Amino acid sequence: MGRKLLLEKADIPGIRSYNVYRQHGGYAAVEKALRMTPEEVVEEVKKSGLRGRGGAGFPTGMKWSFLAKPAGVPRYLVCNADESEPGTFKDRYLMEFLPHLLIEGLIAASWALGSHRTYIYIRGEYAWIVDILDQAIAEANAHGWLGKNILGSGFDCQIYVQRGAGAYICGEETALIESLEGKRGNPRIKPPFPAVKGLWDCPTVVNNVETLAAVVPILQLGGEEYAKTGIGKSTGTKLISACGNINRPGVYEIDMTISVEEFIYSDEYCGGIAGGKRLKACIPGGSSVPILPANLLLRTAKGEKRMMTYESLSDGGFQTGSMMGSGGFIVLDEDQCVVRHTLTLARFYRHESCGQCSPCREGTGWMEKILHRMEHGKGRMEDIDLLWDIQRRIEGNTICPLGDAAAWPVAAAIRHFRDEFAWHVTAPEECLRRNYGLAQYADELVSA
Ligand SMILES: Cc1cc2nc3c(=O)[nH]c(=O)nc-3n(C[C@H](O)[C@H](O)[C@H](O)COP(=O)(O)O)c2cc1C
Ligand code: SF4
Repeated sequence: MGRKLLLEKADIPGIRSYNVYRQHGGYAAVEKALRMTPEEVVEEVKKSGLRGRGGAGFPTGMKWSFLAKPAGVPRYLVCNADESEPGTFKDRYLMEFLPHLLIEGLIAASWALGSHRTYIYIRGEYAWIVDILDQAIAEANAHGWLGKNILGSGFDCQIYVQRGAGAYICGEETALIESLEGKRGNPRIKPPFPAVKGLWDCPTVVNNVETLAAVVPILQLGGEEYAKTGIGKSTGTKLISACGNINRPGVYEIDMTISVEEFIYSDEYCGGIAGGKRLKACIPGGSSVPILPANLLLRTAKGEKRMMTYESLSDGGFQTGSMMGSGGFIVLDEDQCVVRHTLTLARFYRHESCGQCSPCREGTGWMEKILHRMEHGKGRMEDIDLLWDIQRRIEGNTICPLGDAAAWPVAAAIRHFRDEFAWHVTAPEECLRRNYGLAQYADELVSA
């Protein structure tokens, strides 16, 4: 049984309410933080080795230390609860079942960063969670954890919840800031980075829900103790939302010491492939990260066991590896069609492109069109190289990483499943008839 630092109390009846949360040690991290200086809190987070859980995995303590502190200018902390990446639903779980854990982390982080007005930007579809958060914030206010002069410390802080309107791009931190300011959520050109010029042009830190919730165990244990869980630069625990063709889809807290194989096949986690089928492929970190075929998912190209850590999942770069990303673990069994799957993703990214830069605006639509004709039996062999060329011209040539996020799934699908794309061209009828089951990959498929 892996160590739990975030979801440990999730099953306690009534833990969503303030009273039960407090009875079980809740808000002790805020008490501790307020006895420390803001710099000391930042130092603990640095020592913990915590990496941002929103996707990029940037060290949180370092990010906090970059926050500019010009005199007389407010600073802001914004919690990114947009969570619109396909396959990712771990923040929803945290907010729904442990709202006070997030509020506690937010208050401690607000103290560390000097944010007196802190925002939770939440995806609009999570309407029922807005009510849960509002209730938790009201309770925290009623018990003196928010408002003026918290616990007599002289620190004032208030938390506001803002709903998005259903755009994936508003999860990108600068688009989120634009949206929070009441504008259309178009990403900004960086630099300047939000740490210098963010919300209302003031220094701003944007962090993911899980990142900010992790501040609570870091303060409870101390940064060094927190860092003892995990391997290498993958410290602490990570929430993984597992879905697709598995027996036990759900949100799991892993302590980043287990292998991918254990995560998929152990009854503690995914419980194996549904229906006793064979594993074909997996997208380990949300729809934007490269898909890996079964053989490269379970072992790296060096033949080592692939572990559920930032380093191991990305071992081999994009040639033979992938990324931890947001922790959206999407499993595909032997009957799934990679071309169809890639089309679904391409459609999503075309729809969600904000349209500011032409490689993303035009490229995503073009890729979708080509994949659509391949999937519908009208593909040409040269379409495979054309797709490759288009994704290559998008990657790295756009204002924000949505362009990369649209290019990587196409690149990885072609890199690892080129034969399957070719098969769609040479045998379209058979392909459609067989509903995409592929015998030629049988040797690479791993038995459950
Ligand atoms: C298109 C796009 C969507 C994103 N969506 C989210 C999201 O829903 N939640 C999130 O925390 N980060 C998201 N990010 C990453 C954020 O820009 C930012 O890096 C993150 O909120 C930083 O928090 P962290 O350091 O705690 O990971 C997205 C990035 C891109 C490019
Ligand atoms: S990459 Fe796409 S989503 Fe990002 S700014 Fe450019 S057009 Fe908009």
